[in-house]
Amino acid sequence: MNFTLIFIVLLTLQSITTYSLPFVVFYGISDSCSNGAITHFTELLSNWSGSSGHCIEIGNGAWDSWFMPFSKQIDFACEKLKKMSELREGYNIIGLSQGNMVGRGVIEFCDGGPPVRNLISLAGPHAGIASVPFCGSGILCSLADCLLKLAIYSNFIQDHLAPAGYIKIPTDIADYRKGCKFLPVLNNEVHRNCTLKKRFASLENLVLILFERDEILVPKQTSWFGSYPDGSFSTVLPAQKTKLYTEDWIGLKMLDEAGKVKFLNVSGSHLEISTSEMKKNILPYLVDNVSTTVTATSTSSDLLWPLSVRDFDQESNGVVEEILQLHTHAEKASLRLWKF
Ligand SMILES: *[C@@H]1O[C@H](CO)[C@@H](O)[C@H](O)[C@H]1NC(C)=O
Ligand SMILES: *[C@@H]1O[C@H](CO)[C@@H](O)[C@H](O)[C@H]1NC(C)=O
Ligand SMILES: *[C@@H]1O[C@H](CO)[C@@H](O)[C@H](O)[C@H]1NC(C)=O
Ligand SMILES: *[C@@H]1O[C@H](CO)[C@@H](O)[C@H](O)[C@H]1NC(C)=O
Repeated sequence: MNFTLIFIVLLTLQSITTYSLPFVVFYGISDSCSNGAITHFTELLSNWSGSSGHCIEIGNGAWDSWFMPFSKQIDFACEKLKKMSELREGYNIIGLSQGNMVGRGVIEFCDGGPPVRNLISLAGPHAGIASVPFCGSGILCSLADCLLKLAIYSNFIQDHLAPAGYIKIPTDIADYRKGCKFLPVLNNEVHRNCTLKKRFASLENLVLILFERDEILVPKQTSWFGSYPDGSFSTVLPAQKTKLYTEDWIGLKMLDEAGKVKFLNVSGSHLEISTSEMKKNILPYLVDNVSTTVTATSTSSDLLWPLSVRDFDQESNGVVEEILQLHTHAEKASLRLWKF
């Protein structure tokens, strides 16, 4: 009998490994899959979860992350993902900062792509970023505002500078709605497209990780779909108080009410995360949650073995605690240029 039991357990362990969904990583601006920190991050999560992890390179990496508009980045990613037969049964996406724009784009626009189960978002600029909050009053700021008005939402900038696609200046909402070519579409802000909403709302888990000391995303609450109210920099609205949520443009409210949105926070600066924070906030969503309960029928009392219940915090023994910095220095420097 013992032998049978061991056999069943082995079989179950086997099936857990086999059914663990693969995941893909979309890196942030100025980055590429060759960044050692991203390779390390992907490998750690892959080792811990027993699922295969893939970093998806878009075009030639750093350069295209800046200058290829998102519609093209997303088409590129979509074609690549469709060719990966291992994703056919479904997969999870991990988005790093700007990589979340590509990840969400894949979920919403990739016709015929493999199904996405969970989106795990680290420091995603979901509700846009406003880059001039530190600009006070005075002539310099008026000039800056004016230049931004002329430039950021112009066709030329929109077609040639990817991050311009998610810059949302609260004091310039009319031009944003008219000229910004990416975020208003992604967030179903101007024209509501129910296909996009249906696709986004089909996620099993939307895991939104905010970095408490984030100084690159302004406001940092954009990682939780929070944003400045139209017309003002004075306060930050939590997601639940925004129209995106209350009018449910893309299904965020629907997902939240179903308990599928996890608003998580970690203590680091932009994309700075420790291995224990990765285990607590990311790993549970990479491990298959199908309950693998084994019933050994030959015993007099049924033996239930819920193998899927695992506490990863308990498994840190033997793993050295490290802090990973998942963006290149260039990102910090370059995005800072947007501030005045
Ligand atoms: C992942 O596991 C492989 C095989 O056991 C090992 O060689 C590699 O060093 C591990 N990677 C990390 C980042 O721990
Ligand atoms: C809605 O979005 C889908 C996916 O991008 C697209 O195929 C469809 O044409 C859009 N519908 C409308 C009415 O714009
Ligand atoms: C587990 O999977 C089911 C569907 O298979 C899904 O509805 C649920 O949200 C998942 N839960 C977690 C914690 O992944
Ligand atoms: C997360 O947010 C809560 C509430 O603001 C705060 O008490 C907690 O310290 C934060 N966690 C981290 C890791 O920063």
